[in-house]
Amino acid sequence: MLDAARRLIAPSARSDVPPFMVMDVMAAAARIEARGGQVIHMEVGQPAAPAPATAIAAARAALAVGRLGYTETLGMPALRARIARHYHEGYGVTVDPARVAVTTGSSAAFILAFLALFEAGDRVAVALPGYPPYRHILSALGCEPVVIETTPATRWAITPDMLLAAHRRAPLKGVLVASPANPTGTMMTGEALRELIHAAEGEGIAFISDEIYHGLDYAFQAETAVRHSDSAVIINSFSKYFCMTGWRVGWMVVPEPLVRPIERLQGNLAVSVPTLSQIAAAAAFDGRAEMEAVKHGYEENRRVLLEGLPKAGIDNILPVDGAFYLYAEVARFCDDSFDFAKRMLEETHVAVTPGVDFDPRKGKRFIRFCYAGAAAEMREAVERIATWLKRR
Ligand SMILES: Cc1ncc(COP(=O)(O)O)c(C=O)c1O
Repeated sequence: MLDAARRLIAPSARSDVPPFMVMDVMAAAARIEARGGQVIHMEVGQPAAPAPATAIAAARAALAVGRLGYTETLGMPALRARIARHYHEGYGVTVDPARVAVTTGSSAAFILAFLALFEAGDRVAVALPGYPPYRHILSALGCEPVVIETTPATRWAITPDMLLAAHRRAPLKGVLVASPANPTGTMMTGEALRELIHAAEGEGIAFISDEIYHGLDYAFQAETAVRHSDSAVIINSFSKYFCMTGWRVGWMVVPEPLVRPIERLQGNLAVSVPTLSQIAAAAAFDGRAEMEAVKHGYEENRRVLLEGLPKAGIDNILPVDGAFYLYAEVARFCDDSFDFAKRMLEETHVAVTPGVDFDPRKGKRFIRFCYAGAAAEMREAVERIATWLKRR
């Protein structure tokens, strides 16, 4: 039977996207835990804290009633209005709720944005290092991801010069940026974001802004692309600031001409976003005080790592501005950060992500720490790493 299936079924070339290396790290960590080892998890980019109590209470109340039907394709009107209000309260900008689309996490929003904006074969710029699914979703949809290598000199951000140089080599149809960024945790200033949007739109390049780490900013407030353009596509999520990764709910603010295409696409692809998650998400906005306390915890973790890691010998790190990541160079210890991360996990039981996930070439020199756990764990991790590196 299996042989027959193998003969008959050939997976499509477009499905041949690379896996996440971090999954291998997680599997190795699980094996250590099964043997009774105590792993400190700094590999997966998700908060250790639960969703706001307000969100959980709203979900409980909805479950008590019981019936959860489909919602409007673009999301429950109350949630779309609440998200629009968030732009007024958080950034002082006005957003028409009609331009808000609720999505199944920001992950689904990328698919919708790429399908609504691009044709197969279109070239879309993304930063390296960067969140790998940007590249992989684009290629699965038949678009061409065009990677722009960034460096610490621009705080790992794409500049207008870099974008225009790539556009001159072969025309781009879009560019996607994230600030705060994953894996580097660095941010663009409001001015840098504005200049990049204007450079892109001046050349007819669609601008997509992944704002999933907004709210988790330590150096200055993250700027939203909404302020600078009615044509940009803004993508956000309840996963990170609101600690709701598993609820799978996010949103987009889309240019008016894309509202209907996105509604048609989402209606066909998903009908609507899980109703329970939408109810919880609308109530999450009332749990800000709780989430601010979680954010202060990240700030403390960031301080512990920025002080402790250089003392342990890992000293080539940019002071990160936001999110809960730290991207550290480890080239003086190894040729390949995948082996380094593997040995670090085996010998110290601290799990981190090798940089090759985010940058297949230069990522060999880097590892990413996620500091969304508890401060005591961060201190313990720094101690274990320091002792290990001293012994090597
Ligand atoms: C930069 C970035 N964008 C998007 C996502 C996807 O998040 P979700 O689909 O949970 O909203 C992640 C997840 O780690 C991320 O780091």
